[in-house]
Amino acid sequence: MPRLLVTGGAGFIGANFVHYWLKEHPADRLVVLDALTYAGNLASLTPAEGNPLYRFVKGDIGDQALVERLLVEEALDTVVNFAAESHVDRSIAGPDPFVTTNVVGTHALLKAARGVWLEGPLAGRPHRFHHVSTDEVYGSLGPDDPPFTETTPYAPNSPYSASKAASDHLVRAYHHTYGLSVTTSNCSNNYGPYQFPEKLIPLVLINILHGRPLPIYGDGRNIRDWLYVEDHCRGIELILQQGRAGGVYNIGGNNEWTNIDIVRYLCGIVDALLADDPTLAARFPAAPPSRGGSAESLITFVKDRAGHDRRYAIDPTRSREELGYQPQESFASGIAKTVEWYLSHEPWWRAVMDGSYRQWLREQYGA
Ligand code: NAD
Ligand code: TYD
Repeated sequence: MPRLLVTGGAGFIGANFVHYWLKEHPADRLVVLDALTYAGNLASLTPAEGNPLYRFVKGDIGDQALVERLLVEEALDTVVNFAAESHVDRSIAGPDPFVTTNVVGTHALLKAARGVWLEGPLAGRPHRFHHVSTDEVYGSLGPDDPPFTETTPYAPNSPYSASKAASDHLVRAYHHTYGLSVTTSNCSNNYGPYQFPEKLIPLVLINILHGRPLPIYGDGRNIRDWLYVEDHCRGIELILQQGRAGGVYNIGGNNEWTNIDIVRYLCGIVDALLADDPTLAARFPAAPPSRGGSAESLITFVKDRAGHDRRYAIDPTRSREELGYQPQESFASGIAKTVEWYLSHEPWWRAVMDGSYRQWLREQYGA
């Protein structure tokens, strides 16, 4: 029975993973370690509260002594490392926390795992360190380039992707040098419930509801390969169960979209929902479709992101052939679920956006 440490479990993908795992593996012990940065949100973990097998610990992955203590006192055998600074625009504005958490923090986590699992009190027992990474480490593709495989050379372009690349190399080195049992997944862009509204899809949805501009960087023709977050969680589950020690697996959605097409698609969905539902329209009076217009009127082209990668795409052959992995959600069904989730979880995103949740956290934890 695995006993998991999920780092970054109060973030977007981490929280979805916690709910997925507790549902699919109801007998497993699951400890979340999260520093509750601006991107961490305890409200995203509310559905897990009360489950006696779940425990939340506020703390930093860079705190090696804390991680060692948790691994030992909980007899944990699996780490799933989601903890990271994850937003490219923030990494451009201020790269330091990206190096601190993504590089130095991941290294502290590796040192703790090595200390406990290879040389310490739990030495000799089976263990697994899974590192959650991104397709952005491979750099940017041209329109006709083949998608990224696991052997595509690393060519990170932003401070975010460079810091993730550095952490991937450290994970690889701890396997090669010390024999730590590691796996790494490099996933494409995720979307779904609990995503912080600085990322494209929730930002667009919430801006439409407020009648605010929808900022499109550059010409809007940059391409991302979008995956519903639960499909990412399912891929990580398969890697934990069947992945080779030292293995690297790309996870993608076979689902390339330009940014402008995604934004127009979202506008069309919200237009239809608000036009058909007077109650919903009354809840969001500033949204253009509530007043007979279209959300597309909010689209605003703005200055491009510095160093903006043009295209990401994943070749899923290895994860399909070795693990039998296939995304289960279509883009239409995943987006429909996502829109529905944001419309029915207004208190979650209002609290995130108006800062009252941050205030509450400060009062609770002195954070
Ligand atoms: P997120 O920003 O929503 O969440 C990150 C979480 O990590 C937050 O809860 C935050 O409080 C926590 N955290 C940050 N620094 C910490 C530290 N030093 N110690 C402990 N906790 C800390 O990120 P996300 O979108 O959920 O991404 C999770 C992981 O998946 C990241 O490693 C990211 O690189 C990777 N990834 C994300 C995507 C995507 O589309 N979002 C795609 C591929 C890979
Ligand atoms: P984002 O969600 O930040 O993910 P990433 O940069 O990791 O791919 O952005 C997705 C794409 O959308 C990316 O090409 C940048 C673009 N984008 C905009 O055009 N406008 C925005 O307001 C945001 C946040 C992103």
